[in-house]
Amino acid sequence: MNMGQIIDGKALSAAIKDEVREQVLSLEKEYGRRPCLCVIIVGENPASQVYVRNKVKAAEYVGIDSLKVELPAETSEEALLARIAALNADPGVDGILVQLPLPKHIDEEKVIDAIAREKDVDGFHPANVAGLWLGKDCIVPCTPAGIVRLIDSTGVSLAGKQAVVVGRSNIVGKPVAKLLLDRNATVTIAHSRTADLGAVTSQADVLVVAVGKAGLITGDMIKPGAIVIDVGMNRDAEGKLCGDVDFASCVEKASWITPVPGGVGPMTIAMLMVNTVSCFLAGRLG
Ligand code: GUN
Repeated sequence: MNMGQIIDGKALSAAIKDEVREQVLSLEKEYGRRPCLCVIIVGENPASQVYVRNKVKAAEYVGIDSLKVELPAETSEEALLARIAALNADPGVDGILVQLPLPKHIDEEKVIDAIAREKDVDGFHPANVAGLWLGKDCIVPCTPAGIVRLIDSTGVSLAGKQAVVVGRSNIVGKPVAKLLLDRNATVTIAHSRTADLGAVTSQADVLVVAVGKAGLITGDMIKPGAIVIDVGMNRDAEGKLCGDVDFASCVEKASWITPVPGGVGPMTIAMLMVNTVSCFLAGRLG
């Protein structure tokens, strides 16, 4: 049987982090300090706690100073906004990330808007979103940027390819569609209301799935030889991490496929390091 090749996100992210580590060393020599990333977490969402811990660990590895701000779940929106305003004004802080989701009583949109656009390492601020869609210089969201790097690592060109993105979130679906468009793919965005999802996904030379539904995409829904990128992070009945793609049936048909874990997840964190260095540099160069 012809099996697809695994895209090793762990190895690629390690290589990117090593590059950033070198870069940080030379930046410290040139500018007299290291880049600094502040990560804010509100409440005790266990998944968020793991993500934040991994972000801080990666920062430590590459030599980026990190500041972890842990706030109780009952923190008021006002207090969070005040904290962000103080970090915006702090010249020693280059990047600010507020881990999502936030507790229900806090308006996420208000919080994202409050982060200084030049410190918005997530690329979620409306000014950065506009920059992405207008093709201007901007901070690109980490997961979409990581996905493009994973596809590039296969050596397959996106130009002229049919790309299908399943999911239309502001964090992944919409921005990754724009990045694929920038690479001259013909892009379709499918979602929960798409009629006959399998008919759409089976047209895809490149399939990106970011929905949050375990096993949504099965082998019969993909085109033979497709590149399949699984952004899902779900827990199965036994509590094991699994993606949106049924790996066992898709690996037989795909040319390339990302595993979960070890695919997109580590790349998001590596790209966060890249974005933090970009913010630091943009701050130095004015
Ligand atoms: N929650 C899930 N993904 C992300 C992300 O990329 N950034 C932030 N800040 N929160 C998230």
